[in-house]
Amino acid sequence: MYAKSTSCEQLVPVPWDVAPLRSSQALHSALAKKFVDRNVVEIGTRSGDTVNCYAQIANRTVAIEMNRAYCKVLRSRREELENTTRSTIRSATGLTSTNLEGASYGVVCSRYQSAPNETWKDVDYVFWWIEGGIKANIQVLRFLRSVKGLRSGALAMLAHDLTDLDTPAILTPIAEYTEQVLPTRLECKNCLARLQHYCSKRMMSLDAHVLRKVGCHRAASVANLIAIRIDSPQLEVLLNTTFREREITSLTIEDARSASVAAGYHPLSATPGKCWLTKDALTNNETMVNFIEPELGTARSAAAIGTAKSGSRARSPSQSWHCKEHCQNCDGLCTWEWLSAKGVPARQGTGCPPYTLPWFV
Ligand SMILES: C[S@@+](CC[C@H](N)C(=O)[O-])C[C@H]1O[C@@H](n2cnc3c(N)ncnc32)[C@H](O)[C@@H]1O
Repeated sequence: MYAKSTSCEQLVPVPWDVAPLRSSQALHSALAKKFVDRNVVEIGTRSGDTVNCYAQIANRTVAIEMNRAYCKVLRSRREELENTTRSTIRSATGLTSTNLEGASYGVVCSRYQSAPNETWKDVDYVFWWIEGGIKANIQVLRFLRSVKGLRSGALAMLAHDLTDLDTPAILTPIAEYTEQVLPTRLECKNCLARLQHYCSKRMMSLDAHVLRKVGCHRAASVANLIAIRIDSPQLEVLLNTTFREREITSLTIEDARSASVAAGYHPLSATPGKCWLTKDALTNNETMVNFIEPELGTARSAAAIGTAKSGSRARSPSQSWHCKEHCQNCDGLCTWEWLSAKGVPARQGTGCPPYTLPWFV
């Protein structure tokens, strides 16, 4: 272990990505505590805000990422990390040797299903937070059961948030443990800063599109970690009985969800947090960060998480609005345009679209 701390906020002070495009650094820190001197594989790392932290804490870290662009970033960040940690060791110890090893991690640029066998050798923890909900999670678990070389008792660590309630319903009953991680104001602030950038620059990247569409409320939601022993008989039973046919039917999911509600528990019993920007007229339209922490306690549905749809501010169908480029979360930051019934731009402006069309006032 190179680092004295397990705080990923400290070890990766300038992250590349923001939540909810990736999981929160608070979640990374919760994992880092478990990863001290262990062998860790992460499936799907994006630009590596996670592994750049774990590599300073774990015995061995491997990043698997199928997206080539992220892989390129991972390799360059790894070099930077090696150099920085090497200089830190030099200045702390006074050693001048050129052979000093800095913190580092392996990068496997492929889908996890095609990673070389040695990737899995002596691994204690496999972490992932990938798109696809319960179906994708079951696929990874099924794959890990078939992998050779993992340490006995190796744990699968899956993360998810309130947008996926099927995963906890199905997997909590066989989990070793689960852990909820609260969001931070800093993560909300960083998300809003990125959103503001994407809104003002009218960026066309996929991240820009996603963030403008989803907004930052998800950056203020609770994350849940589920730890499952990969060699546990319970997992085998689950995969062989509940999911015998490989295809997970919506009926199976529905059953598990009802069972979890009937059993009186739902692991994500939190009200969603909120994170949004407002303009303060008193201070010359300066933008203000608004962050409301989620409350743990009562079960809520995923629908409660804000992914506002275009037109939600409209009072009647004839007044429906269309904010260009899915800018609905750019309140106060985006350019909007009213479309006439024929879809022709009728009026344009910046900031929040007004409630009333000009010809109605
Ligand atoms: C939501 S990001 C998660 C980033 C990071 N794990 C975190 O928690 O912040 C999901 C990443 O998984 C990658 N991914 C999805 N499916 C994958 C697969 N089958 N094999 C490898 N990477 C995958 C995507 O390219 C993306 O970079």
